[in-house]
Amino acid sequence: CGIVGVLGNHQVAPILVEALKRLEYRGYDSAGIATVNAGHLERRRAVGKLVNLSDRLVEEPLSGKAGIGHTRWATHGAPTTLNAHPHKAGPVAVVHNGIVENFKELRTELNALGLTHETDTDTETVALLTQYYMSQGHSPQEAAQKTIARLEGAFALAFLFQGEDDLMIAARKGSPLAIGHGDGEAYVGSDAIALAPLTDKITYLEEGDFAVITRSSIEIYDENGTLANREMRTIAIDAARVDKGGYKHFMAKEIAEQPSVLKNTLSHYQNADASEVELPDHNIDLAHIDRLTMVACGTAFYAALTAKYWFEKIARVPVDVDVASEFRYREPPVSPGTCALFVSQSGETADTLAALRYMASQNATILSVVNVPESSIARESDLVLPLHAGVEIGVASTKAFTAQLAVLALLAIKIAYARGAIDAAQYRTHIAELNRLPGLISQALGIDGAVQDIAKKLATAQDIIFLGRGALYPLAMEGALKLKEISYIHAEGYPSGELKHGPIALIDKSVPVVVMAPMDPLFDKSVSNMQEVMARSGQVLLISCKQGLKTAAEGTWAQITMPTTPDLLAPIIYAIPAQLLAYHTALAKGTDADQPRNLAKSVTVE
Ligand code: G6P
Repeated sequence: CGIVGVLGNHQVAPILVEALKRLEYRGYDSAGIATVNAGHLERRRAVGKLVNLSDRLVEEPLSGKAGIGHTRWATHGAPTTLNAHPHKAGPVAVVHNGIVENFKELRTELNALGLTHETDTDTETVALLTQYYMSQGHSPQEAAQKTIARLEGAFALAFLFQGEDDLMIAARKGSPLAIGHGDGEAYVGSDAIALAPLTDKITYLEEGDFAVITRSSIEIYDENGTLANREMRTIAIDAARVDKGGYKHFMAKEIAEQPSVLKNTLSHYQNADASEVELPDHNIDLAHIDRLTMVACGTAFYAALTAKYWFEKIARVPVDVDVASEFRYREPPVSPGTCALFVSQSGETADTLAALRYMASQNATILSVVNVPESSIARESDLVLPLHAGVEIGVASTKAFTAQLAVLALLAIKIAYARGAIDAAQYRTHIAELNRLPGLISQALGIDGAVQDIAKKLATAQDIIFLGRGALYPLAMEGALKLKEISYIHAEGYPSGELKHGPIALIDKSVPVVVMAPMDPLFDKSVSNMQEVMARSGQVLLISCKQGLKTAAEGTWAQITMPTTPDLLAPIIYAIPAQLLAYHTALAKGTDADQPRNLAKSVTVE
């Protein structure tokens, strides 16, 4: 899941481990490095956290100033030392992100040539194939090139070779890869964050690119084998900012910084006197958007689902929302003039990107809401709406989620006004409401202490149900997702009104039910649904404003008092209790909130 490579002027093993640490946030289950020292290629690998690899390197050090490293998130083959990267075959070591889809055929072919495999992985076939081509007299570069031409699927690859202290080969198809430029040094990384302490000068490989890297030269060839000129950018990643800033977890820091993040996001989308929503330059006729298709995965999907309520209710634009893994293979018919909107923190999620490419092939106009402006999804969009949320490290998305909601709300009211669905006064009122977000989120963060107490009880539950209505329904699902992601407690989000059609059968005194009910036009209905739960001994945690609690808290097990919010903002403000409940429940259970088991931050495989 994370790749680094260094052709340096110092001992590279500690530098590689340090760079891999910066990729820890992406989620992994094993790690390894390989170096070339005076021509000799060797590797060390370990299962579990990076400290295990560090321990191993203390016992059996690796020298050399050229090396590659990897953190693996298992796809083919269990997370064992044997299956960890780098994979090595004779004079070749390789690290890989993605999936080689035709590895079984390649493996059969290699076995017939007498090259046997030792692991269950798809990646090993890449090393074996390269070894084979080298044994046929090809140079490392030719062998790697020939190998890559045989691979189907998605990959980012970095190669290192026996006898070559000053050569690294990198290739990209479907998974991102960045090349870093140093002073007499050169690097590769699966993202710029890994390389931040080494350099801020980055060249992103494009789809199909193949790079031949030495300390003094970087040659990039495009998919046709033609020497390509790829732009070098200076990336504004302040190396120091990628730390926990005194918090116990990145997740806690990212939850806490939401007021300032949202202030920053909002400031990028309006004019000086806050009378207009301003979007980056584009030539899309917003007044004639008649239908919107939204596609995303995970938390970003729930942001999209929330926005559906705004686009339909405020802008009167019909919206379809789907998860990308379903959408991409459904091949939905696309009518002319369709706008497709993709939401993704990383901008690299494989399914979302594939859905985008399908819609682009159908001539849809492509809009995206992303946090990483250099990402593939951003680069393939007609209009990119960046989150300006800063790097998000916690695997469970928090600040990116609320920033996605803010940007989507801004877009909804912009389109609503352009289409004449709201008048100037309503438009300005909504802008003013959105500008209250930082203040209201700060206020909402004041529930932290109360949540800690409640989390102690939630931590002992087997199942937890989250209920919400209207725009709070997607948030109920997001609350359940957050909780299961990081505390491993089974949780489900349901529309309050749908509970009686099935899940109510689960209710007894052991099942906590979290009811998210702001004082909106659906409040009374939410309260009725909550009564149905309490009548069956369900333990209700009611989250509402003071007035709401005063009206309806009787008989509930616990309460969280939220600030009173305009209806438009409710799903954004109520994200705070959803996040804090998950975080404190994970703390109470002792699970790792930043790096939950089995999960990856950026899923660049199907
Ligand atoms: C993974 C992450 C989630 C994220 C989802 C979509 O599953 O663990 O936190 O919501 O991918 O990622 P994206 O980068 O496209 O928003």
